[in-house]
Amino acid sequence: MSGENKQGFAEALLEWYDQNARDLPWRRVHTPYAIWISEIMLQQTQVVTVIDYYKRFMARFPDVYRLSEAAEDEVFKCWEGLGYYSRARHMMQAAHVIVSELGGVFPEDRDALLKLPGIGPYTAGAIASIAYNEPVPAVDGNVLRVMARVYADGRDIGNPKNRNFFETLVMAHMPDRSGDFNQALMELGACVCTPKQPDCENCPVKMFCDGYKNGNPTDYPIKLPKAAKSIHDVSVLVLRHMGKIAVVRRPEGGLMSGLWGFPVVMDEDSETAHLNYFESHLGYTVTRTGLGSKAKHIFTHRVWNMQVYYYDFKDPEQGLETVDDPELRWVSKKDMEALAFPTAFKKLFKGIDFFRKGD
Ligand code: ADE
Repeated sequence: MSGENKQGFAEALLEWYDQNARDLPWRRVHTPYAIWISEIMLQQTQVVTVIDYYKRFMARFPDVYRLSEAAEDEVFKCWEGLGYYSRARHMMQAAHVIVSELGGVFPEDRDALLKLPGIGPYTAGAIASIAYNEPVPAVDGNVLRVMARVYADGRDIGNPKNRNFFETLVMAHMPDRSGDFNQALMELGACVCTPKQPDCENCPVKMFCDGYKNGNPTDYPIKLPKAAKSIHDVSVLVLRHMGKIAVVRRPEGGLMSGLWGFPVVMDEDSETAHLNYFESHLGYTVTRTGLGSKAKHIFTHRVWNMQVYYYDFKDPEQGLETVDDPELRWVSKKDMEALAFPTAFKKLFKGIDFFRKGD
């Protein structure tokens, strides 16, 4: 795009945005808290899914004080099904910092926002521009696609080293209304400049777009393939006793950490491996009683092929009252609904029998 067109691009885009922006609940408020919650939810989740989660979350935790006082399980429950739970964990940490170290006042510029847990360049740019109108970029996947097409640029958008370049392109067009401009770029990417079939004829900036002019907008952006996902056979261990089953808290630092789940053994389906797990992790002596259902779950970097195995106490007299472990709970089907379980495990809920035949 040539130099004299740079201002025209932002003008044309904003004019389109003013007439076509979707009426989304977080666009009706301008508090940094509300923008923050919506932007974190929108990071890896589609707008249509986020709307209800956002409304429920804001009704339950309307400000940073309520969030900082909330119990972790309560926040996870509100997040249940959104995935990428580290987002919720970081939000709780950031809420604590804001309340206990910053007197409840949200940081007011991009650099200060970047210091909070879970806030990277995209989120800091989005909050700073939308809530405070600071002239900074907020480059997400939609914006990368739009800019790569407008400039017919062949850099790999999957390589974080190229982010700076695309941020510079956005800054070259930055008008006074920075928050609206950033959102307009996102909106264009979500509604017009879509990945597979962009609606170029109805695009407000097609006259500025080199991809369009060259007749090959969908050749951009370039995204080189990532490493293959690792595939795991996951034994899901369901230990039953009088209508209840044992669930454990996922260990710190790993996948789905801090959430509740079934005990699992990775890539080892022998009874011996399972008995060892029960003995060493929970101090239980058990015996296998059968096979249950299967399910598959695809995470960002791995695939879980899950198989349920049922277990009983070896000695039926062994009582649950012997257990005093905060990372372990015995739950009925109803109790389980009150805990936050990741989607991977929820896929198995329906097929789980809490009772043996004849119990
Ligand atoms: N995706 C990320 N942030 C967004 C926003 N503010 N509006 C629409 N889509 C978005």
